[in-house]
Amino acid sequence: MSTRPLWIRHASQLVTLAGGSQAPLTGKRMEELSIIEDGSVWVEDGIIRFVGTDQEARAAYRDRLEEAEVIDAAGKLVTPGLIDPHTHLVFAGSRENEFDMRLKGATYMEIMNQGGGIHATTEATRKASPETLYAESKKRLDQFLLHGVTTVEAKSGYGLTLEHELKQLEVAAELDRTHPIDIVSTFMGAHAVPRDYRDDPDRFVDYVIEEMIPEVARRKLAVFNDVFCERGVFTPEQSRRILEAGRAYGLLPKIHADEIEPYEGAELAAEVGAVSADHLLRASDKGIAMMAEAGVIAVLLPGTAFFLMAESANGRKMIDAGVPVAISTDCNPGSSPTVSLPLIMNLGCLKMGMTPAEVLTAATINAAHAIRRGHEVGSIETGKQADITIFDVPNYMQLQYRYGVNHTHTVIKAGVKVVEGGRLI
Ligand code: NIG
Ligand code: FE
Repeated sequence: MSTRPLWIRHASQLVTLAGGSQAPLTGKRMEELSIIEDGSVWVEDGIIRFVGTDQEARAAYRDRLEEAEVIDAAGKLVTPGLIDPHTHLVFAGSRENEFDMRLKGATYMEIMNQGGGIHATTEATRKASPETLYAESKKRLDQFLLHGVTTVEAKSGYGLTLEHELKQLEVAAELDRTHPIDIVSTFMGAHAVPRDYRDDPDRFVDYVIEEMIPEVARRKLAVFNDVFCERGVFTPEQSRRILEAGRAYGLLPKIHADEIEPYEGAELAAEVGAVSADHLLRASDKGIAMMAEAGVIAVLLPGTAFFLMAESANGRKMIDAGVPVAISTDCNPGSSPTVSLPLIMNLGCLKMGMTPAEVLTAATINAAHAIRRGHEVGSIETGKQADITIFDVPNYMQLQYRYGVNHTHTVIKAGVKVVEGGRLI
């Protein structure tokens, strides 16, 4: 069934990010946005068919102009749909009590070691029915969409038993089927050592490797395998075992690395050939150099540093060292309860020394590569899926300059308008 073509016209800036579909952009190329003024995009059957100036589009489609549904983007910024490559989307409950405790001086790890933190959300998530989990997570997805996000990665890791990890992953799969946002799933059974394994963490690592990974892979419920490599959680040795076991079952490695303390997580990411290493607040210079050499994408999460009142990762240094950088919310109930990827991009500029052009690359084409979708989404190019966000600002710099405001006006997902005038359709 063919649908009516969609014609986006007169964009004051059409940021295409063309040319990065094969590999993430690095170094100076992160500032090459490939902007078209008075830009035009022709979409048919969910696919981008034409990208150029308005004049070029009129010439190319002169016999069919009347057919199209027109979106007038005059005075507005048109970009690829934003992509969030690191979320803990599916969970139950919230932890504002811990926020209050942290504001009074408790640390994130202290709270976790006392049975709060990830353990508290695990308890709530285990108790929740799939229907409740679906409903709570769907609300967050709707909010993501309203902030211009069209694809998210979603991790498990609040079940910590096979049964409950599968429940979380199945809810993510159901949301992927039923919600406009595309979801790419990551298995993260190694998110914390459950309280009942406290005295023998290696036994839990064995359980993850021998029982969880094979079943998750058999059911095809995840593309990636992630581990929280952190002092007091999983050691680099345990993390390596878990990531290699996942790879043997076809799950690609990702890692929460050097978030709270330096722990040679960046080095490990390079050694195991991880697709991405995420957080990296305390990554060593050697680890950064090794990531650049191995082509590991740094997924930076400045909202987490902001919310934990810690110093952000040094995005500037990583880009200058040649590491491909992506950016993400880390949306989760403990260290970053936000869905505002635009705000995270603001923080990328203000706290990580990145430029407005670099954060846009980091939240589109490089984010797409961090979840292995660079060939389908993340740029506005002929043949790609028509995931497009229109912001009510005249140029990409204003998206960062007028910070803390949701400028999302229209969102198009696979050629279908899903947000208009800042509201869900
Ligand atoms: O990425 N660091 C581990 N995981 C999450 C936080 C999860 C939570 O606190 O619930 C993170 O920061
Ligand atoms: Fe995380």
